[in-house]
Amino acid sequence: MSKKILVLPGDGIGQEIIAEAMKMIGCLQNEFELDVVVDEALVGGSAYDAVGSPLPETTLDLAREADAVLLGAVGGTKWESLDISLRPEKGLLGLRKELGLFANLRPAILYPQLADASTLKPEVVSGLDMMIVRELTGGIYFGQPRGVKELESGEKEGFNTLVYRESEVDRIVRVAMDIAMKRGKRLCSVDKANVLECTEMWRNVAIEAGKDYPEVELSHMYVDNAAMQLVRAPKQFDVMVTTNMFGDILSDCAAMLTGSIGMLPSASLDENGKGMYEPIHGSAPDIAGKGVANPLATILSVAMMLRYSLDNAGMADKIEQAVDQVLDQGLRTPDIMSDGCKEVGTEEMGDAVIAALMG
Ligand code: IPM
Ligand code: MG
Repeated sequence: MSKKILVLPGDGIGQEIIAEAMKMIGCLQNEFELDVVVDEALVGGSAYDAVGSPLPETTLDLAREADAVLLGAVGGTKWESLDISLRPEKGLLGLRKELGLFANLRPAILYPQLADASTLKPEVVSGLDMMIVRELTGGIYFGQPRGVKELESGEKEGFNTLVYRESEVDRIVRVAMDIAMKRGKRLCSVDKANVLECTEMWRNVAIEAGKDYPEVELSHMYVDNAAMQLVRAPKQFDVMVTTNMFGDILSDCAAMLTGSIGMLPSASLDENGKGMYEPIHGSAPDIAGKGVANPLATILSVAMMLRYSLDNAGMADKIEQAVDQVLDQGLRTPDIMSDGCKEVGTEEMGDAVIAALMG
């Protein structure tokens, strides 16, 4: 039976980059016998504009039925003054929570062709290949109580809660351990165990789970040091596992090591391997509609979708090789442009990847 993919372009450059991913999926259907049915729906600010909710019930139902979801990006200045419960980001967070997508895989790989595009020295980043595993449905993003209350003095007090159960930590650490087993067998668990009780517990659970993976070398690092080590000597890392918020911050940091946040895909998986795939960059309202956004993170997200949810690792490899080839050809969107290369727009980059795939 055909697998179902739900495509959610979202806001800003989401529309443009998803258009390139759709061309890629069309090519896989027509030329490589990929047996999928593709549906499209609204999420984020565009959904709010159309029906008054960043995550319409119809979208959520379609997402539940799908085998995989491909998302562009959500958010934009236009919706920043809305109540937080109606903001585009709530659409994304709602999808993660409702679909139980607790395991967020964010690979940070430096393509050798882009060593010059990184703001760090080439010798610091060349050869970088690490995976950040971010817990995605718990922690301070979802903890209760949360809000802003008014004190008797009339002053306001804002509060959020960092909360994890042992079982939530255990399952994400095991996902990271399994990934480490297929890579360099080193896992660094990032916490703030010197200050936050919740993450001291995190560390203890990681140690316990680690006993089932004697081949994996488990280390622990405080988050402030991890941020420093990422820019000082990032190649020391193989797999990193951490909380929702620390993972949000550290993955942006790791993205920049690779030259551009426009290069990095991600997968968010549930217990059964169903997943949502998205570039880790945002909706970039400043460049939306200009045709200059880098579609490679989204195209690479299609590759991750094939690998993790559609059981087609061979096709995923081919797409990744095609991206490698266009970089070899010297094609660059503005975010990764460097001397001697040819600057191209979103569409031209998407077409070049398809041409490389077709050989
Ligand atoms: C990310 C983003 C989201 C997050 C936002 C858009 C809600 O920054 O996927 O990293 O904070 O998780
Ligand atoms: Mg983020």
